[in-house]
Amino acid sequence: MTATVIVTGAAGFIGSALSELLLARGYYVLGIDNFRTGKRENLSEIRGNKRFRLLEADVTQNKLSEDVIKALSQAHLKSNEIDIIFHLAAISSVKESIENPVLMNETNVRGTINILEMVRRLEIKRFVFSSSAAVYGNPEKMPIYEEAPCNPLSPYAASKIAGELYIHSYNQLYNIGGTILRYFNVYGPRQAYSEYSGVISIFTNQALRNEPITVEGTGEQTRSFIYVEDIARATLAAGERDTASGMTINLSGTESISISNLAQFIRQNVEGSESEVIHVNPRPGDVKDSIGSMERAGEILQFNPEVRLEEGLRKTIDWYKTHQSSK
Ligand code: UD1
Repeated sequence: MTATVIVTGAAGFIGSALSELLLARGYYVLGIDNFRTGKRENLSEIRGNKRFRLLEADVTQNKLSEDVIKALSQAHLKSNEIDIIFHLAAISSVKESIENPVLMNETNVRGTINILEMVRRLEIKRFVFSSSAAVYGNPEKMPIYEEAPCNPLSPYAASKIAGELYIHSYNQLYNIGGTILRYFNVYGPRQAYSEYSGVISIFTNQALRNEPITVEGTGEQTRSFIYVEDIARATLAAGERDTASGMTINLSGTESISISNLAQFIRQNVEGSESEVIHVNPRPGDVKDSIGSMERAGEILQFNPEVRLEEGLRKTIDWYKTHQSSK
């Protein structure tokens, strides 16, 4: 029998990659998206797939469960037999969270509670939440282990911690066995390009347009980037493995790079770019260094990232060359 899964944020950068992987593995996928930041073109590969159905809805809306039941019954699927829900729908930008904390709370916190209510009511077997390494703030030691204390430096980080706490409470109250994945910096094809998007998308697009590459602050801050296809594989593994029930797991890249070195690498690898690397004001709420321990992901998910940063960056640059959108 085909297993049924739900992906919230299915038209997003990571949600669409996860949906593609799920379909390739034979799942039936109900994708939910409100298209605020998700894009229809991200679904172009999967829209025609008979095992994919799209529900255009906001995760915060009342009666979401009813809409899910209806969408599944139209596809002749039973809503009391949903195997996994992957909850990715969120506002994912630290910068936007500082500009609009109320909207951030609405989407990331209220949206998560609404999804948890659906998990409880529809008795969905597995719940996987995409949280963030931002919850750690600036911890004392690298790599960061999951036991490190939470210390939110932005409303974004606060909203992810709040989501995690609600999951713990539902795990206690209703034994839903929810899994929390703390994503570090994810990059790759289809990451949106705007002032709110990830640094690799921003730098690559700046280099391709011969615009200045804007390093915020000294550029000495470091990140460990993980390629989107790796993140999709790990996220799927978290849904499939019962041993991940109730666990909190880091998903980090394994190489650290400073933002200045990243700017140089991208500048050098975008052929013919005349961009100069400039320094602009540091970002309030920015984390200094961020690399996670992948021990637990290795043990529980049997997962290790496969795509090295250099290879992933080249693939990403190639993709943006043929997919330049306006900002
Ligand atoms: C990112 C993700 C967030 C995720 C977190 C996990 C995005 C937009 N944010 O946050 O969803 O939960 O990782 O660790 O993908 N920078 C510049 N110039 C720019 C843009 C950024 O120098 O034009 C710098 C920033 O100041 C920061 C670094 O690049 O130091 C990374 O920024 P960004 O890609 O926005 O990611 P995070 O804030 O780390």
